[in-house]
Amino acid sequence: MVVKKVGILGATGTVGQRFITLLDEHPEFEIAVLGASARSSGKKYEDAARWKQSKAMPEKVAKMIVSECDPKLFSECSIVFSGLDAEFAGEIEKNFRAANIPVLSNAKNYRRDPVVPLIVPTVNTEHFDVVKKQQEQLGLQRGFIVTNSNCSTAGVVVPLKAMQDAFGPIEKVTVTTMQAISGAGYPGVSSLDILDNVVPFIGGEEEKIEWEVRKILGSTNEDLSGFKLTDTVVSAQCNRVPVLDGHTSCVAVKFAGKAPSVEEIKKALVNYRCEANKLGCFSAPKQPIHVFDEKNPDRPQPRLDREAERGYAVSVGRIRPDSIFDIKFVSLVHNTVLGAAGAGILNAEVAVKKGLI
Ligand SMILES: NC(=O)c1ccc[n+]([C@@H]2O[C@H](COP(=O)([O-])OP(=O)(O)OC[C@H]3O[C@@H](n4cnc5c(N)ncnc54)[C@H](OP(=O)(O)O)[C@@H]3O)[C@@H](O)[C@H]2O)c1
Repeated sequence: MVVKKVGILGATGTVGQRFITLLDEHPEFEIAVLGASARSSGKKYEDAARWKQSKAMPEKVAKMIVSECDPKLFSECSIVFSGLDAEFAGEIEKNFRAANIPVLSNAKNYRRDPVVPLIVPTVNTEHFDVVKKQQEQLGLQRGFIVTNSNCSTAGVVVPLKAMQDAFGPIEKVTVTTMQAISGAGYPGVSSLDILDNVVPFIGGEEEKIEWEVRKILGSTNEDLSGFKLTDTVVSAQCNRVPVLDGHTSCVAVKFAGKAPSVEEIKKALVNYRCEANKLGCFSAPKQPIHVFDEKNPDRPQPRLDREAERGYAVSVGRIRPDSIFDIKFVSLVHNTVLGAAGAGILNAEVAVKKGLI
């Protein structure tokens, strides 16, 4: 296996640190350059980052000097992973793409771009097919931008995809989230605001879930020139809760056609497999959806279940009929793994297998 050198943009932040812990044990990718703001560049990583991971900072990374996010300083990299603040991601990611360095981004800036795929790696990796159109439009040989979803979208869209594949189009969905504080980056929400409390507002989050689900569950146009969104109507309510990692969502679903039974849904979720499984990607969860049955009526829970398959699997429980919609359930995703850095890494593994990197 040829090991590819990679860079991390926004390496000092919450998502950047998760990239470092996941890439430290990765057989295909080797961290070569770390980028952050002018506040951090020129410093040793251990002096620039306020390390908040339970795993120790890798020794090699600690001594690396943080660079500015200038593509010229990343020329040895086959890929860059971006955990950049959205205020700056737009310009910086565009510069890397123009320099023919593929960008796997966590920022929101390009998610709605008509030729930029928005990919949750256990859901819609066939959307990579539109990368060629993006390169054609910009006259690029290797550069592209592919984004992953908002962290809470990831937890909802994986079970919805399994249901859509098995039972056909979904007419409408309601989602109520309970989101971890690491989702707000560092220092994020102040302790006086979040301890002993629930904050029933996360700016822009509801709109992201309501729109992103429809692009991710949608299809590519026949000529691969862009994407067709699904007609699914999604209504979201988002809350910040005093949990460190792991976004929990209570979801209710109405199908366009005949409603399946609870048993049929459980079976569809347990048996669901994605393209990353078929391609044999290193980080692909063996079973993308872990299902809890009636014997475990109080699961999933963030503290107990967020690490399922190293954070790459979504956990679903409490599947039961709903008196207004057809069914309801609870899902849990690790917001900085499948909801952020892990999604970028697994997307990159798929892109390598598809010959795009
Ligand atoms: N946290 C999550 O669960 C999550 C999930 C999905 C998506 N996201 C998205 O991922 C991105 C990063 O989120 P985060 O939670 O990791 O944020 P964060 O902890 O605030 O980190 C932001 C990073 O951006 C860098 N940065 C800020 N201004 C910059 C500039 N002018 N030039 C270059 N780098 C700059 C920071 O570097 P310095 O340290 O030098 O300031 C830091 O490395 C955001 O777009 C966020 O919306 C986050």
